[in-house]
Amino acid sequence: MRKNFFVAICSLLMLSLGVARADDGMWLPSLIGQRIGDMQAKGFKLGAEDIYSVNQASLKDAVVLFGRGCTGEIVSSDGLLLTNHHCGYSQIQSHSSVEHDYLKDGFWAMSRDEELTNPGLTVKILQRMEDVTQAVLAGFTEGSMTESWRDSVVKHNADVIRKEAEAAGKGLKASVEAMYYGNQYFLFVYKEFRDVRLVGAPPSSIGKFGGDTDNWMWPRHTGDFSIFRIYAGKDNEPAEISEENVPYHPRRFLRISTEGVKEGDFTMVFGFPGSTQEYLHSEAVRYIGEVSDPVKIDLRTRRLAIQKKYMSESPDVRIRYSAKNASVANAWKKWQGEARGLARNHVVQAKRDYEARFEKWAEGTPYEGVTGKLAAVYSQLEKYALAIDYYKESVATVEIASAAASFFKSDGKADLGGFYKNYYLPIDKECFIEVMNVFDANMPADLLPEWYLAQKKEYRTIEKWAEVLFGKSAFRAEHSPVYKSSDPAYQFHLNMEDWYRNTLLPRTKALTDELNLLYRLYVRGQMEFEPQKDFFPDANLTLRVAYGKVSGYSPADAVRYEPVSTLKGIIEKDNPEIFDYNIPQKLRDIYAAGGHEDQPVCFLATNHTTGGNSGSPVLNADGELIGLNFDRVWEGTMSDIHFDPEICRNITLDIRYLLFLVKEIGNAQWLVDEMLAPATEEDPRQQI
Ligand code: ARG
Ligand code: ASP
Repeated sequence: MRKNFFVAICSLLMLSLGVARADDGMWLPSLIGQRIGDMQAKGFKLGAEDIYSVNQASLKDAVVLFGRGCTGEIVSSDGLLLTNHHCGYSQIQSHSSVEHDYLKDGFWAMSRDEELTNPGLTVKILQRMEDVTQAVLAGFTEGSMTESWRDSVVKHNADVIRKEAEAAGKGLKASVEAMYYGNQYFLFVYKEFRDVRLVGAPPSSIGKFGGDTDNWMWPRHTGDFSIFRIYAGKDNEPAEISEENVPYHPRRFLRISTEGVKEGDFTMVFGFPGSTQEYLHSEAVRYIGEVSDPVKIDLRTRRLAIQKKYMSESPDVRIRYSAKNASVANAWKKWQGEARGLARNHVVQAKRDYEARFEKWAEGTPYEGVTGKLAAVYSQLEKYALAIDYYKESVATVEIASAAASFFKSDGKADLGGFYKNYYLPIDKECFIEVMNVFDANMPADLLPEWYLAQKKEYRTIEKWAEVLFGKSAFRAEHSPVYKSSDPAYQFHLNMEDWYRNTLLPRTKALTDELNLLYRLYVRGQMEFEPQKDFFPDANLTLRVAYGKVSGYSPADAVRYEPVSTLKGIIEKDNPEIFDYNIPQKLRDIYAAGGHEDQPVCFLATNHTTGGNSGSPVLNADGELIGLNFDRVWEGTMSDIHFDPEICRNITLDIRYLLFLVKEIGNAQWLVDEMLAPATEEDPRQQI
């Protein structure tokens, strides 16, 4: 109590001095005790043990890693789970057919036996996490071994630790993750559930409302959610998919608040952010913002234009390429926001200034000169990094070559049916010509493999090469009579990938080893340089807490965005002529009947999030669920590298819009009842 009071006074002081702590940071839940004072000063009413505890049920027991890269949260004592529509997209798609188009029309189970199984889909719940730095580095002495040697020691020790943790119980999966560039290592032990069923999803015209036009943008009105349920064996432990399984009873599930939010309210995001790079050297930031992003954006702009041309000519092609197009467009748009944000915020210059101050401080310490050494490594690395970027955004995007590769890699066992279902050769061929011309014009000849140069000599132009590759490859259509390893699409894949893996990447190995070593030193140095600052480890798809407040922002001079969007805005955007804005008639009718103008839809807050945080629970000061995180604003996508509290915002689906849709559009009152069921004395799991 006294401590909290002290913290509150301090933060008031800092506020009045204009040095309030920024809202950046993705904190490790087991170490949240270091931040809890700041959180409470900003309005949070619970304690550190409520967020993460090994001994008692805590909020972490209600948060899951959904699939391979999203977050979800448990909202009932029977394992009901919420995540984003774009996170459940492939499951919804896989249950869809022409007769039951759940993507288009939505899906609502009306009872538990209508819930649909999803082979391959897993959710993981964190059991515990633990600092294992000493054990991971056992047998390693800094300064006396090469980076490669260190890597193998780390890998070996981590394997032993992981296997031991997994052997301790049923369904356990463990991983050891590096923090702060390998200055620290943590063990994460999860329970992995393998029977996760689809319960509900709105039509895409709601779940993807606004499509790629509104993606990464505010004002936003996307009903980006889907509902699943975790099933377990009769012993409540993970089990393979089976009719015998029963709904999982979590240690803890989230209580939903329908009180709503307003500007300034405390918010917390609890989830699995995938990857950030907050401690980069100025040269790396320059490379990303001024070289890499523009190159990747240009290559994707070309592919998107070709896709769009064919998609607008044919509804069939549009369906085939909608998921691919969305994923190409997603990063393409993010990089544009990122490059602009880095430039607008002068991040390179700010980093250079910081490095100058750091070096002044570092004189006579083991950190002296580290920033200069990093710059020197980057200048050698740039040529290769660029070649890798070109490879990934051109050569590696040729679809027919990937089909050939998966066929031969599986010894002819791969089922290519799924590939051809979503393939359209004219797009692939035109993209090949487009991106390979760019690759060819930009790749230094001394980096290119003999094989490539020989092809160029033979065909003279990329266009001629494409004629042969796409004309002769047996993979040009499904069910070819014969596949030969001399197939031109396969040869393209084989030779170019071989070059990438066995020539290009190895040439960077010594440099990236050097980088790892220098970054380990540099990050440790930064921590000593600013001992008053708490450093959070970069995101690496491990469970984190971010906190901030509901807040609008100013995206440009003379423009101010409000933090809450409403159903009224959906009706304003509604347009039957435009695919992405054509809402279901039912929603129009509900609105027309009146009384829903102010129905909240999404809101903005200052939480530091990134890819992987999609579906994360957004909690209020009492630890209650107020929404689902699903995106960030475009002007703030640089937050993976530099978080600016003025402009970086996460976008949350208001839980009240979710409840409204489940009831009004899905007519699934039983799910609303399940989610809003109050805790009982027999079942107090949602209470803390
Ligand atoms: N931008 C969000 C994220 O990075 C949502 C992406 C899915 N939506 C889309 N229209 N592509 O994942
Ligand atoms: N939309 C992202 C995701 O899918 C979240 C983000 O990048 O902010 O995880």
